[in-house]
Amino acid sequence: MTTIDPLTDYDIFDAEFVLDPFPVMDAIRESECPIAHTERWGGSWLPTRYEDIVAMAQEHDLFTSRSIIVTPPPPVQFEGPYAGVAAPPISSDPPEHHWHRRLILPFFAPQAVAKYEDGTRDLCNQLIDGFIDGGKADAAADYAQQIPVRVIATMLGVPTDMSDEFTSWVRGVLEVGLTDPKVRLESRMKILDYFRAQIDDRKANPRDDDMITTLLNSEVDGQKVPENYVHGVCNLMLIAGVDTTWSSIGASLWHLAQHPEHRAQLRDDPDLWPMAIEELLRAYAPVTMARQVDRDTEFQGCPMHAGDRILMAFPAANRDPRQFENPDEVILDREHNRHVAFGAGIHRCAGSNLARLELRVALQTWLARIPEFQLVDPATVTWAGGQVRGPRKCAVAF
Ligand code: HEM
Repeated sequence: MTTIDPLTDYDIFDAEFVLDPFPVMDAIRESECPIAHTERWGGSWLPTRYEDIVAMAQEHDLFTSRSIIVTPPPPVQFEGPYAGVAAPPISSDPPEHHWHRRLILPFFAPQAVAKYEDGTRDLCNQLIDGFIDGGKADAAADYAQQIPVRVIATMLGVPTDMSDEFTSWVRGVLEVGLTDPKVRLESRMKILDYFRAQIDDRKANPRDDDMITTLLNSEVDGQKVPENYVHGVCNLMLIAGVDTTWSSIGASLWHLAQHPEHRAQLRDDPDLWPMAIEELLRAYAPVTMARQVDRDTEFQGCPMHAGDRILMAFPAANRDPRQFENPDEVILDREHNRHVAFGAGIHRCAGSNLARLELRVALQTWLARIPEFQLVDPATVTWAGGQVRGPRKCAVAF
């Protein structure tokens, strides 16, 4: 590990941290300074205790969402046609955040997402049909990665055969692009170009049943919403809805491949599913978003300055022993589980009902058809790290 001291020099892109961030998070959490600081990647703070992370998420006027990525922005700033296109509501602060979020919530209500269940199950079955006879598959690349991108494309009303391009653009923004500003900028431009064309197409040929059209026709205070808002939402749907859920599905399968007793528990007691899903989300929470400090302040003794960035380490909060008994153990029927895998406060995940549905259907379908499976070689599993963590290669045999 290149990190010298986790309290003053942690590196979220360090290869060992990406593989297993929990020892570093534990060391910080149990030290006299549970909010670490690093100068790496433009500098950031890393709170690790549940209580602190929830408190910071709730103080949204001090810890703003002006910058949700923790590495410095690309050197070439956005100008021209896409200046002002952000990723609402995740990049918005009050008062705009309120309407930015309100307009998208109906798409994610439990009844609204329920209509994707059958299609998601069919998709999962088709993916399994493609590899089941071979007795092996990559649970991350051949399965988990293929699901959320198609669900989101269906929801937005854009062709699902663009899935590979969407996936590569999202990885360009959230994975490779976090440490390579040029890739980040290019990938972001591809997403924005694509959705600009989709918006123009719907303006010329209105449709009545997709999310983009519905948003274009939405009004706030009697005025049509700005197109920049709709464009930004499309951008966010891809960024927020793809890597995150794919990482959760992949990490859960990685876990189940190594725990025959948990596979048996789920087979013997199907009522366990809702609790099991929450526990897998807690233990393998994929998302760490950032905040930007609005003004100089002191938080838990840490002198923070306007513009400083904070890593909202929801995965670290979910492993805090002050909040969860035996936090490193996966206990599928864990009773007290107020996890923050979906965040906390005003930015709490708007897509959580859809994410839970996709995770449940993906795991149930897999276990129904492939009840017994194991990792081919634990050493060959690769993980993406940074701000969305999950397995990217995970070969299994059955
Ligand atoms: C397991 C999968 C997922 C996880 C773990 C997850 C996690 C999160 C987290 C932690 C936040 C809060 C960010 C912050 O505090 O800055 C968030 C926000 C958000 N997520 Fe998710 N997410 C998942 C899937 C999805 C899906 C499928 C969608 C829908 C396409 C989605 C849409 C959103 C939106 C719109 C926000 C912003 C909400 C706001 O700012 O008001 N997420 N998510």
